[in-house]
Amino acid sequence: MKRQFLWGSATASYQCEGAWEEDGKGPSMWDDYFHHVNPNAVSGDVACDFYHHYEEDLQMMQDSHQNTLRLSLSWPRIFPNEDQRVNQRGVEFYHRVLDSMIAKGIEPNVTLYHWDLPAYLQKKGGWLNRETAFAFAQYADFCFREFGSKIRIWVTLNEPYYSTQCMYGSGNYPPNEKSGQKFATAIYHYVLASALAVQKFRQYENIGEIGIVADVHPCYGVDESEACQRAVYLADQLYNGCILDPVLKGHFPQALIEALSTTYDFSFMRQEDEAIIKQGIVDFIGLNYYNRSYIRPYQSGPSMVAHNNAGIRDAKKEDEEVKRVMVVKDLFEKIEDPNGTFTEWDFEIYPQGIYQICMEVTRKYGNVPIYITENGIGLHETLDNGTVHDDARISFVEQHLHYLLQAKADGADIRGYYMWSTMDLYSWMNGNEKRYGLVYVDFKTQKRYPKKSFAWYRDFIDAHQDI
Ligand code: BG6
Repeated sequence: MKRQFLWGSATASYQCEGAWEEDGKGPSMWDDYFHHVNPNAVSGDVACDFYHHYEEDLQMMQDSHQNTLRLSLSWPRIFPNEDQRVNQRGVEFYHRVLDSMIAKGIEPNVTLYHWDLPAYLQKKGGWLNRETAFAFAQYADFCFREFGSKIRIWVTLNEPYYSTQCMYGSGNYPPNEKSGQKFATAIYHYVLASALAVQKFRQYENIGEIGIVADVHPCYGVDESEACQRAVYLADQLYNGCILDPVLKGHFPQALIEALSTTYDFSFMRQEDEAIIKQGIVDFIGLNYYNRSYIRPYQSGPSMVAHNNAGIRDAKKEDEEVKRVMVVKDLFEKIEDPNGTFTEWDFEIYPQGIYQICMEVTRKYGNVPIYITENGIGLHETLDNGTVHDDARISFVEQHLHYLLQAKADGADIRGYYMWSTMDLYSWMNGNEKRYGLVYVDFKTQKRYPKKSFAWYRDFIDAHQDI
């Protein structure tokens, strides 16, 4: 029987729920960071208060004919303390949300971990500590048992590569470090955690399918030279292969490890883990596509990575550090294409990349089922007569969907598409004013206002039901 294509949008617990200490929830590493390390920054304490507004948000999804929501569970809402006692009120909240979704015909696509690590685990080293991987598997196992009758699409982790880059590369996410060694260690433990959770999942029958969500970055060279092709090859292994290879083939990309092993110590990779990672192969892959990587051979300087959290495109002229670039010493450099089109946060707008990455994944990993689990554009927006005329978002999504449907027609097994995001959310180090939603949120009153893209997406879905 042909499965219905899933058309929806995505959120994440810390970015939407708020209620950071309500009903027994424990602190996550983000709560600790904003309350103790960086108290002047905008936090996700309240965010768009999905905890109290979920009925209204889900109703709006139904009104715009979306048949799926990607959301995540907050680990510290379920296991608030180190004693591992379940917080029943947190569990009940998720049951209420899931029940409401199912009643409205909105398929839950549930991520177990979207970066809100319990603070008690961060204090013990977080993802640098291999014990975190085992703790994750225990938490996942609980969720499979508790919610297994309501969830058919499970995701272990959200964007292990990108979150590690932010935690230990650019250091703009807690714990704010810049260390290639820690970067490599954390990625490895993430992959181990996913594999251990998949192993647990396989013990159950009839609880659906399990995947992982990877941020993907199709890599393009600045020219065709041999040196550039080698740089692109290694960049692709780092940005894409270091997650996709282990979760779809059961091992890490060898050439990358060889290239890095002169600089970094890979002794955290234990032989006993090889079998676990082999058994951790997922049923589908979730791809988050925002932009491509434009690559040239390594030229000079130490390894570095920087992000633009200022939301001002010209900021880079004043301060090189806000430029969205990366150097991996001796391997490659990621730069801006001088002819590219960029958002105010230096995200390049490159719709063709979604076609490229879907086809590459299909070719390399044997036609694996694909969900596009995030795609969207962050903009500065203001309310105008009760709505937002977000033509730039409509154009962005329309172009990406054009290429996505082309990839589907050319044989990629694409099963669903999720716009980021369902409503305006808290955007990590960009605070509340980098807006991605189909629905505008006034963060002061928590009132919701559908944007122009809301009706546009509904009509697009209606016209593409039977694909
Ligand atoms: C993805 C994350 O990296 O991109 C989301 O999964 C995030 O959590 C989204 O919000 C957009 O990134 P940002 O930094 O612009 O909010």
